Amino acid sequence: MLYVEILGNIPEMARDEVKAMLELGEGRITGQDYLLLKVEGGEKVFPHLDRLGLAHEYGLLVVEADSVGELLKRTGKIDWPIEGTFKVDTETMTNCKHEILDLPRKLGSVIHAQGFKVDLSKPDTLVRAYCGERLYAGVRLHFFDPKDFEGRKAHHRPFFRPISLHPRFSRALVNLTKARKEILDPFMGAGGILMEAGLLGLKVYGVDIKPEMVEGAEMNLRHYGIRDYVLKLGDATRLEELFPRKKFEAIATDPPYGTSATLAGRRRDELYRKALESMHRVLKHGGRLAIAFPADFDGEAEGEAVGFRLVNKYYQRVHKSLDRWFYVFERV
Ligand SMILES: C[S@@+](CC[C@H](N)C(=O)[O-])C[C@H]1O[C@@H](n2cnc3c(N)ncnc32)[C@H](O)[C@@H]1O
Repeated sequence: MLYVEILGNIPEMARDEVKAMLELGEGRITGQDYLLLKVEGGEKVFPHLDRLGLAHEYGLLVVEADSVGELLKRTGKIDWPIEGTFKVDTETMTNCKHEILDLPRKLGSVIHAQGFKVDLSKPDTLVRAYCGERLYAGVRLHFFDPKDFEGRKAHHRPFFRPISLHPRFSRALVNLTKARKEILDPFMGAGGILMEAGLLGLKVYGVDIKPEMVEGAEMNLRHYGIRDYVLKLGDATRLEELFPRKKFEAIATDPPYGTSATLAGRRRDELYRKALESMHRVLKHGGRLAIAFPADFDGEAEGEAVGFRLVNKYYQRVHKSLDRWFYVFERV
């Protein structure tokens, strides 16, 4: 059994990102305690879990219990999969129902009694204990270092435009499409979504109506070592003309939200509708579209009107004057 600790900003979106990756790796979520997901899956799930954007870490779930006493008793009976030295680190989730102040020390001494050596400064293995409705302990296998994502935020890129999604959300949009081979972003801007997809080894296709964006996105992709791309100057409402006969496996995009500069003189809702129609025309049957729209546009109704089926939608308040929904659609 594995655990995945998801991030708390939009937990439902983070959980569905894990679900999408597990579907690619033939695994499944078997339980949830707030931000802790219990996951079943073999070796095949690891490369897919490694793609996650909205996760903190994953690991082996070794033991769970309903009280501290029971957790300690079970801990003593298990052969811990610890390599070298270890340290216990606890995560108190906001739904924690137990008194766990002394848990790291108690758990540490039970594991120590099995012959493992503690190293508090540079442990080889991190034992993670979680407190939610129940108590859990396991061994961390992978940590999603925030520095990796922070290092790709808009202002660190050679071509900078302050209109990009946070890289973690760009990554999640890509993953929610379940893309295995390729992805299209028809409003690519500086290429933030394409960067995240390219780093996963997907072939990336991008479109923007402004020449400086096409040049800038290419600069950014190359800076992060991405070489398998096709970028075109053109209109997101006429994708079938830009890519004749091509049907895409997946689309992830973040259209302009309505300042006149980014809308290139078009009426916003009209642009969204026409782009949805065009995306529907170039997406394969069964392919997914992950897209962000401001909250005053009914993306669900408009997407369904052009023939998409809604898989799920997630609300995000960005700041006082911007709240948006992320939608995941399937082309039926
Ligand atoms: C919000 S930005 C995309 C940001 C991007 N996701 C990123 O992370 O850098 C939207 C982009 O859509 C482009 N755009 C506006 N109208 C367009 C159209 N009709 N077709 C294609 N691109 C368009 C704008 O030039 C702008 O670069």
